[in-house]
Amino acid sequence: SDLCAQGKVRGQRVFIRADLNVPQDDAGRITEDTRVRASIPCIQMALDAGAAVMVTSHLGRPTEGEFKPEDSLAPVAQRMAELLGREVPLRARWVDGVEVQPGQVMLLENCRLNKGEKKNSPELAQKMAALCDVFVHDAFGTAHRAEASTYGIAQYAKVACAGPLLAAEIDAISKALAAPRRPLAAIVAGSKVSTKLTILKSLADKVDQLIVGGGIANTFMLAAGLPIGKSLAEADLVGEARAVIQAMKARGAEVPIPTDVVVAKQFAADAPATVKAAAEVAPDDLILDIGPQTAQRLAQQLMAAGTIVWNGPVGVFEFDAFAKGTETIAHAIARSPAFSIAGGGDTLAAIAKYGIEKDVGYISTGGGAFLEVLEGKQLPAFEILEKRARG
Ligand code: 3PG
Repeated sequence: SDLCAQGKVRGQRVFIRADLNVPQDDAGRITEDTRVRASIPCIQMALDAGAAVMVTSHLGRPTEGEFKPEDSLAPVAQRMAELLGREVPLRARWVDGVEVQPGQVMLLENCRLNKGEKKNSPELAQKMAALCDVFVHDAFGTAHRAEASTYGIAQYAKVACAGPLLAAEIDAISKALAAPRRPLAAIVAGSKVSTKLTILKSLADKVDQLIVGGGIANTFMLAAGLPIGKSLAEADLVGEARAVIQAMKARGAEVPIPTDVVVAKQFAADAPATVKAAAEVAPDDLILDIGPQTAQRLAQQLMAAGTIVWNGPVGVFEFDAFAKGTETIAHAIARSPAFSIAGGGDTLAAIAKYGIEKDVGYISTGGGAFLEVLEGKQLPAFEILEKRARG
């Protein structure tokens, strides 16, 4: 933004790496567009400053060099055009050169289709760097990945800097945890402990309540000696879950294990839902949500919290019969006087479903990147920008 304010990008070719990796339904319609909306201020700023603007992003995890229609950023180009109120042409093959005029914006097709993107090939990164005068990294959600369009290009571009979204996200998340108002409650939910073990361990040293949900809660229930029937869980991580519970206890903090749950016999939207005490889950039951008593108890804790960190819905909220737990938690976060900070794709979808956008203190566009900043890790794609700024 400083470069724009100083008039330094007028007539310059500006290459913006955004994170436009948005969820879509089977018909290719965007179901949640926070990331597209969050990319607009940087693009608009560069356009207003008279730059020739190129924007790219990855979408999903395609096979390099193999284009499939579902890998295309076409729906994103359309949404971006609506938000910017101008045409946004989509350019398919772009690595070897693109024509963009000052005052125009062009979206460059899914960068993960380029061979060498994921591996951060220097050859590809150099070609991308040659497309522009200024590289702007504004893809907070992908800043934990060192790929050609997030890391390599920042090494080789004439000028490389952070965009407003990247800077604001890192600032907001690190500040929220630096000196939080207590009690500090974190909700970490999702299907697997293995994908969130580092964050669970790191939060176990910091938070007053570590609320677990989804498949993660099932593994914690096993660790607490409760039956989980045929629910999703990782038996090999029960020891790790037990260690987290013990570490929290030793600090006088708590991992509230569900005392009641909503179960079904199949994973289906129309499967009959039954509320059961946690100790009474049958061998053929699937736990698909926390029960009403657990949800109420957690809601009370959230109402009394000073700071809340939220990552992950506590049940299968896409199915109405198993959405009550997540809905209760979402409304408690919205009503709580605590400063709340939320991130992750499913969390954003839950926030949108319950219409609580305005009641959450800070909504991050990051999933993995959000968790890494919470853990206190440095994001490689941000580090390289800092290194370049130091010269
Ligand atoms: C995300 O959705 O978390 C980011 O866009 C990163 O996607 P990735 O995990 O495929 O790198």
